[in-house]
Amino acid sequence: MHATRSPRRPRGWWRHGVVYQVYPRSFADGDGDGTGDLAGLRARLPHLAALGVDALWITPWYRSPMADGGYDVADYRDIDPAFGTLDGAERLIAEARALDLAVVVDIVPNHLSARHPWFLAALAAPAGSPERARFHFRPGRGESGALPPNDWRSEFGGPAWTRTTDADGKPGEWYLHLFTPDQPDLDWNHPAVRAEFESVLRFWFDRGVAGIRVDSANLLAKDPALPDLAAVADGSPHPYVDREELHDIYRAWRRIARSYPDERVLIGEIWIRDGARLARYLRADELHAAFNFAFLASPWEADRMRETIDASLATADRAGAPASWVLCNHDVTRTVTRYGRADTSFDFATVAPGIPTDLALGTRRARAAALLTLALPGSVYLYQGEELGLPEVEDLPPHARRDPVHFRSHGENPGRDGCRVPLPWSGQEPPYGFGPADTRPWLPQPGNWAPYTVEAQEADPGSPLWLYRRAVGLRRSLASLRDGAFRWIEAAEDVLAFRRGDELVCAVNFSARPQPLPAGHTVLISSEPAGDGTLAAHAAAWLVPSPPAGPGRPRGHTSTDGNPW
Ligand code: NOJ
Repeated sequence: MHATRSPRRPRGWWRHGVVYQVYPRSFADGDGDGTGDLAGLRARLPHLAALGVDALWITPWYRSPMADGGYDVADYRDIDPAFGTLDGAERLIAEARALDLAVVVDIVPNHLSARHPWFLAALAAPAGSPERARFHFRPGRGESGALPPNDWRSEFGGPAWTRTTDADGKPGEWYLHLFTPDQPDLDWNHPAVRAEFESVLRFWFDRGVAGIRVDSANLLAKDPALPDLAAVADGSPHPYVDREELHDIYRAWRRIARSYPDERVLIGEIWIRDGARLARYLRADELHAAFNFAFLASPWEADRMRETIDASLATADRAGAPASWVLCNHDVTRTVTRYGRADTSFDFATVAPGIPTDLALGTRRARAAALLTLALPGSVYLYQGEELGLPEVEDLPPHARRDPVHFRSHGENPGRDGCRVPLPWSGQEPPYGFGPADTRPWLPQPGNWAPYTVEAQEADPGSPLWLYRRAVGLRRSLASLRDGAFRWIEAAEDVLAFRRGDELVCAVNFSARPQPLPAGHTVLISSEPAGDGTLAAHAAAWLVPSPPAGPGRPRGHTSTDGNPW
């Protein structure tokens, strides 16, 4: 029997905690083979402790052919040898716990790897066999079955169906894959599929993980008739997005989470625009939380941000769940780059190479966004490198690219490699301490990343790293940021300002001009220098009412935390 304790977190930590996303391939490489691993991550846990986060979410670390960066799982109960061993994972969970960091793992239930034993068995078995019943195998259309069974498209481009070859060498049935052909979709109407994932959940909970991030959580259930999308009447349920059957699956998962004496949480990856629909996943007997992709996708504009924040808080309220705030992850353009563009919104459909970007502007806005995000009520998700202000790497050489999104779009989409470049830790040149000196990272790092290293930023009190450390630290120490009520306050045009509790004010200047700060307040932290009573262009600040003036005690916009501003 394995440890069933989760970290020493206060109950409900996930309602307001900060969760740091680790993409293990690119975090830190302990053995110098160019791929990040558990040894590297374990050695760098103190970085996360120093940042002050509550938890780390580790994207898939299981055995995988890595056709989609590990989201093609061949064994849900073992660690990929490139990353380490199950024993190493257990040590990592224990070491994180000792640093008071909860561990959240990623479960991929919509599909598995085409090299998973279940799918290999299905390919080896004939049409109509029990082995195939765990997937969506269908005959093709047309006289010789040469056309896919329906008109569904893969999320990554191209048809969502691939034809198999029978044992006699003749073309056979087709199977469904909403992502790449290396990721066959499971049939969630099959009891063995449900039983398997319930057992996988227990497997990781038994090893002490505090939570599970549920990949593609709104795609698992399919209309068994697999109708053409073109034939689905307006207003009818979508045949594979956000279907009613999903809720029963998550109710069963919540019962499992609840069966542990301490708290285990379920966090859904749910790309749904409609807040009312999203709230249904967050009912008290389903998932605990979901990523707020509306916030991530919103343009950096005062009105739009305000609308999104209001809508997100309303969704959370409706569900009795915490709001969550996320600016980037391993699937989207890094914030610093996106916010430097004319169109600062995010949409998978509009990702394209060669969009002009003003990185200095994007960096200022991303710093302001960090203070906005960390002042909002709910939980916050940070993506590795966000705390370093890393930009997207947009000029990866073609031979280095790995992301299937790039290849399936025939190069029209740059793909997601640019936000997955290994982290710079120290030194003046690649591999910047990502691994031992002669390491060649699996994606090449730019030659100009020396100022982005953790080492360089630790030495610079004005760096993004110190901004995040101070803000996360304040968020932990100020009760008003944990449970203080949220209330908008009046502000100039292009400025958003709100109060948390009775004290803390967060003000964000979306404009290109300095704006006055509220009178009688002291700046606790600001994303740009704020000493002269104004909030700089594209900047944010946290303020508290100034203490009454006394001898030798200046009133007004004074910094209190020892930062150089
Ligand atoms: C969402 C994950 O975040 C992404 O990286 C992956 O490609 C798809 N789900 C498919 O698993």
